[in-house]
Amino acid sequence: IDPTLDLFDEIERLKREKNAIVLAHYYQEPDIQDIADYIGDSLGLAQQAEKTDADIIVFAGVHFMAETAKILNPNKKVLLPDLNAGCSLSDSCPPPLFKAFKEKHPDHIVISYINCSAGIKALSDIICTSSNARQIVESLPLDQKIIFAPDKNLGGYINKVTGRNMLLWNGACMVHEIFSLEKITRLKERHPEAKLIAHPECEEAVLRIADFIGSTTQLLKFSETDEAQSFIVATETGILHQMQKNAPDKTFIAAPPDNACACNDCPHMKLNTLEKLYLCMKYELPEITMEEQLRVAAKRPIDKMLELSR
Ligand code: 13P
Ligand code: SF4
Repeated sequence: IDPTLDLFDEIERLKREKNAIVLAHYYQEPDIQDIADYIGDSLGLAQQAEKTDADIIVFAGVHFMAETAKILNPNKKVLLPDLNAGCSLSDSCPPPLFKAFKEKHPDHIVISYINCSAGIKALSDIICTSSNARQIVESLPLDQKIIFAPDKNLGGYINKVTGRNMLLWNGACMVHEIFSLEKITRLKERHPEAKLIAHPECEEAVLRIADFIGSTTQLLKFSETDEAQSFIVATETGILHQMQKNAPDKTFIAAPPDNACACNDCPHMKLNTLEKLYLCMKYELPEITMEEQLRVAAKRPIDKMLELSR
């Protein structure tokens, strides 16, 4: 790329010329968040993808998110700046293994967290995100047997708050499992005025000491509206950009990972860069494609979620 090009201007030009919309997750790098037409959590992004009338959806997020946009929009072009932007949580649940697990429990219905492949979605009855998981589980009768996949931490948290006993797939997110309880506890002691806010993908020990638990959007809203002036944030660091933008006078401290070499940046989310975003819009590549039979099967449980979340 010509180093004198103003990528912000170029991306805006390509958006206009191609009737393209850029959807970005809060975990994207700040420049991408600033150029996006919509920034949101997984639920917000799926809802935007459902209602957009753009011809091209450029998804600044990870593969399962772009795949969800394609499932909802078979006739639109869906682009992902880096096709390698995967997800450790999604990878922890391969469809053939999950299919065998499901077959062992034929009296259970399957609720899957949206952080899974189209193959897992096609094996599911309802999709949920961290914003609506509780509401979706509570919409089912108390005696309904449920398999929850793939995140054992979110599933365990929902079991706890709803009093259910869902069968959990043993998957987890590499970013949210990295926090050190010991270091967070020490940090809380040094900042007794700070509230600990955590994403439900974190381990139970961290959630137990959190002052507020919520999806990315819920954490953002809480940090803006709560009376506290400082927050220890136990989720991916990308969200700090919006938190600081929305409440410039408040202090946000990223919760510490368990060792100095680790970090709570998602290596998959951070594969996307402004340069790759520009190139993918220019060349309309890489594109998400999907076999129609799989798309239709994966769409049913997403539609169910969107219906329940209106
Ligand atoms: P939400 O966007 O639902 O908060 O989920 C966070 C996440 O890990 C996305 O990959
Ligand atoms: Fe997947 Fe975790 Fe990265 Fe989200 S933060 S994309 S769940 S690895």
